[in-house]
Amino acid sequence: GTGVNYGKTFQDITDLINNTFIQTEFGIAIGPENSGKVILTGDLTEGRVTKIFRSVDFGKSFVTSELPFHPLMQIAYNPRDSNILMVYSINYDLWLSEDFGANWRKIHETVCLVKWGMDDTIFLTTNPNGSCSDRGTLELRKSLDYGKTFKTIGSRIYSFGLGGRFVFASGSKRMIHVSVDQGETWDMAQLPTVGHEQFYSILAANYDMVFMHVDEPGDSGIGTIYVSDDRGTVFSKSLERHLYTTTGGDTDFTNITSLRGVYMTSVLAVDGSVQTVITFNQGGEWQPLQRPWNGVCDSTTEYPNKCSLHIHASYSISMKLNVPVQPLSEPNAVGLILAHGSVGGAVSVLSPDVYVSDDGGYTWFQALKGPHHYAILDSGGLLVAVEHNPSHPISQIKFSTDEGQCWHVHNFTDDPMYFTGLASEPGARSMNVSLWGYRETVLNQYWVSVTVDFRHLLSRDCQENDYIQWLAHSSDISDPTDGCMLGYKERFLRLRKDSVCWNGRDYLVTKEPTTCPCTLTDFQCDFGFYHAENSSVCVEQPDLIGHSLEFCLHGRKEQLQTSGYRKIPGDHCEGGITPERKEIDLSKKCVSNLTRSHFLLFPPPLISLFFKHTKTIIQDKKQNRNILRVSHFNNHTTKRLLNLLLFFVCFIFFRERE
Ligand SMILES: *[C@@H]1O[C@H](CO)[C@@H](O)[C@H](O)[C@H]1NC(C)=O
Ligand SMILES: *[C@@H]1O[C@H](CO)[C@@H](O)[C@H](O)[C@H]1NC(C)=O
Ligand SMILES: *[C@@H]1O[C@H](CO)[C@@H](O)[C@H](O)[C@H]1NC(C)=O
Ligand SMILES: *[C@@H]1O[C@H](CO)[C@@H](O)[C@H](O)[C@H]1NC(C)=O
Ligand SMILES: *[C@@H]1O[C@H](CO)[C@@H](O)[C@H](O)[C@H]1NC(C)=O
Ligand SMILES: *[C@@H]1O[C@H](CO)[C@@H](O)[C@H](O)[C@H]1NC(C)=O
Repeated sequence: GTGVNYGKTFQDITDLINNTFIQTEFGIAIGPENSGKVILTGDLTEGRVTKIFRSVDFGKSFVTSELPFHPLMQIAYNPRDSNILMVYSINYDLWLSEDFGANWRKIHETVCLVKWGMDDTIFLTTNPNGSCSDRGTLELRKSLDYGKTFKTIGSRIYSFGLGGRFVFASGSKRMIHVSVDQGETWDMAQLPTVGHEQFYSILAANYDMVFMHVDEPGDSGIGTIYVSDDRGTVFSKSLERHLYTTTGGDTDFTNITSLRGVYMTSVLAVDGSVQTVITFNQGGEWQPLQRPWNGVCDSTTEYPNKCSLHIHASYSISMKLNVPVQPLSEPNAVGLILAHGSVGGAVSVLSPDVYVSDDGGYTWFQALKGPHHYAILDSGGLLVAVEHNPSHPISQIKFSTDEGQCWHVHNFTDDPMYFTGLASEPGARSMNVSLWGYRETVLNQYWVSVTVDFRHLLSRDCQENDYIQWLAHSSDISDPTDGCMLGYKERFLRLRKDSVCWNGRDYLVTKEPTTCPCTLTDFQCDFGFYHAENSSVCVEQPDLIGHSLEFCLHGRKEQLQTSGYRKIPGDHCEGGITPERKEIDLSKKCVSNLTRSHFLLFPPPLISLFFKHTKTIIQDKKQNRNILRVSHFNNHTTKRLLNLLLFFVCFIFFRERE
């Protein structure tokens, strides 16, 4: 790319916000995809009122407004309408704006925890008596009209969590209830080992199912991942020894959004080492990552014969390893994953390199030496990366048009700057990338952002013959079931690696799904049944004495009617094997075994629900409780502006040992 001017604009943003200090903790709120919205929250120490700076053009210009309150969390966008904002104040009053932050009205008092649900719904917990610290006495309320009216949908609530279409709430008896109709009716969630856990965490959830982490007793930093059925009530064990530290609340759990059914996370091995595992079938099985074809095994490893790729994600970042950004994937960049990693027996503390997979995590190669910031542009047609080196000013950006195999260098400035972060429009459709950083003069430092427009590089529009067919999850084309995943296979049209052209903003992923015949692996065991060892056959549990009692007690009648098998959520298989078994009514069985003394055998579990990626714990001495700030990262929004913390959804989480 020598001698080509890719078009760049320089901007000093310090002036735009009149030198106001921005809160580091929840200061930058970036709107949903394609909204272009950014809100910066000024630091309270700046004055008696809290100011916000609002931009609708990706931060090119800002307007200022003053808030009639002081916020305690990051301003939360309604995911369906980025003009509707919600935030609660340091007095626990809930405020809402319907005009992108210009005007605010108070919609509720004594709010303990608030979240946007589906379809503009607001869920919150409150204590009518005024104190959020009386856990187990809260009311769960929802509003469908932006806070004009509220309906109480649960009382004696401890905490709640939302994921996909599921609403979870832990009650005063600390059992988890689940609702699939936005809190109108509730069922017991049957989580097998609920006895002595410390916390539950929804790792990921969609319309079909939930990944739930259940913490082990003690401060072991590990737990077990369970996957739910389509009702959110019956859970099957998916992964043991899952790393989820209680100190920072960090887990490496990552949804690989560029290929259906793929998730990555870390386990803590018995020897104390951290190892990366991946699943290609929505948590059905997990395995180590393949060794990259050009990756050299770390010779210092304890296990020279156990050599696989290990990925650095949240946990490594929290451990202050030299990892600038999280793994990255985008739904419209099919199969692509960029991540920092090392090759060896376990996650290494050595400086990581950048690895790329172009088939959704099955195979990997080393793409760049050393840590980098990276971004996906033009739906995967263009990758960009900037070396992470905080102590040296830089002037170069690297880019690749062949999914990371070859990299070129572009000098974006003659006047090197200290680089702090890369920003591109969420959704990975843009051709522009902004580099943020600062320059030093003798007298002071000033912030700059440089935007590089790669439209001049990829000037040709992609044509039909620039794309080739690709079958996802495929390993052996001669096998008729090759590529079947959750009951169907998908053929995609992907850009050829050697095509240098522009997908364009309107690029749509073209996929051709075909259903597969069912096998027993398309089913999971229902409540009251279990997998016979090493087999997919579901066997009836001889009796239901034990962990299942609460479900017997609170499960709805129709849920206790079962044939023992349930199709895995999201599985579309047709024909083939259908497990034949007559429906039985479990409720009789349940009742006959249910006695009061059995029920009392189980100590009340200490349960709090919270969302993934808890970041900071703040002691609120007056209220005598821990406030856990929770950020809900998704892949569109990681590694944005200046690498400051992005808190999308924040809520309070109460934790206290009994
Ligand atoms: C880019 O910068 C490097 C040094 O930073 C220099 O060696 C190289 O010649 C420059 N390339 C162009 C095209 O200016
Ligand atoms: C910054 O200050 C100037 C002069 O006081 C004012 O005109 C401008 O609107 C301010 N800009 C913002 C974003 O507050
Ligand atoms: C509120 O306080 C009253 C009187 O102290 C008590 O009877 C009632 O149970 C409390 N309600 C809740 C939800 O804590
Ligand atoms: C994972 O990401 C994909 C793509 O964005 C999404 O369709 C899917 O629902 C996500 N899975 C979960 C469990 O959230
Ligand atoms: C890149 O930025 C320019 C200038 O802001 C804009 O006109 C153009 O539409 C952007 N291109 C893409 C592909 O986003
Ligand atoms: C199940 O498989 C494991 C490992 O393959 C083996 O060690 C075990 O003996 C098997 N159990 C049964 C009952 O076949």
